[in-house]
Amino acid sequence: MSEFEIPEGGLVEAPAVPQPNIFPIEWRCETPKLAEIYERAKREGFNPADINWSELSPEAWSDDEKVAIMYWWALLSNFDSSGPAVFARATIHAWEMHEEDPVRKCFFSITRDETNHEETCQRVIQRLVPNGPQGFAPKSELQRVALNNIGWLYHNGGRYWTGYNRAIDRYPLAVIFTSFMMGEVASSTLFHGMAHATTHPVFREIFTKIGRDEARHLQICINLLEKEWPGLTDEHKTFITKQLRAGFVFLSMVLWEPPAQFWDLPGYFLHNHRILLRTAREAGLGILTFEQQADNWRLAIARVRKLVEKWDIQFPAIPELDIEGVDVGNITAEDIIPVF
Ligand SMILES: [Fe+2]
Ligand SMILES: [Fe+2]
Repeated sequence: MSEFEIPEGGLVEAPAVPQPNIFPIEWRCETPKLAEIYERAKREGFNPADINWSELSPEAWSDDEKVAIMYWWALLSNFDSSGPAVFARATIHAWEMHEEDPVRKCFFSITRDETNHEETCQRVIQRLVPNGPQGFAPKSELQRVALNNIGWLYHNGGRYWTGYNRAIDRYPLAVIFTSFMMGEVASSTLFHGMAHATTHPVFREIFTKIGRDEARHLQICINLLEKEWPGLTDEHKTFITKQLRAGFVFLSMVLWEPPAQFWDLPGYFLHNHRILLRTAREAGLGILTFEQQADNWRLAIARVRKLVEKWDIQFPAIPELDIEGVDVGNITAEDIIPVF
């Protein structure tokens, strides 16, 4: 006689779990390359607390220089500090959609890394300007202008969140990840360039470490897209073309200068922005010049273009950088899928 209780009619199957759902639990692996990258992510990641912060001595700069440098980190935060929530959402989505295990784990690793990048922004900002980016009392015209511009940056950052939340359920991962890829290409080039240009060893260490993470994120995006793109419909391809333009419009704020689309800014913003960046550049932060940034952006875009055209996805026109392509019309807050 069995130790178990087995009814006469046999065991009853549990009902199927209604989908989308994070259950049932399973660990499918279809892309070993992604599993490999996840292993690398576990070893390569860094701890922002271990950076030698005492070497970033606030006495090295005047108060205005410190605020100008902080301004750039606050600007970077508009992108990097949204990373944790953006990728956490994508991670949950990947679980609900039963993406293979390495995809879910890679998304988790990006969430982990972006939280480190966010913490790095936080630490630099608070070391240079206690209670920054917005809680400090400005004591000069430059400081007042910086505080005001930061308010406008975050106003615009806040405009994409609803659209993103809708997009994540509405579009396949291939579409969402094309936007992410644009961000990762851009940020890996950005940090690489700044690591060379900065004169401060702490900033060099930070840019090198974040740049290494971003290069890994880019590899995750490329591997995921190579897997997802073959199944795309023409409608999705058209949408991706628009997303590429949206990525350019959004990311240009930190990588170059914002085009006259999406960004809701007062007329004086850009003029003051340029002076703040010039001050931070002269203080040794490592911000590239307008022309160097444009060259960097062109290079990053050429890389993205080569990748997407392989899959018959058309590239948008980017007249700002003399790049020819398809006219995708106006870009609004609804079109922005945030990245970095
Ligand atoms: Fe990042
Ligand atoms: Fe990233």
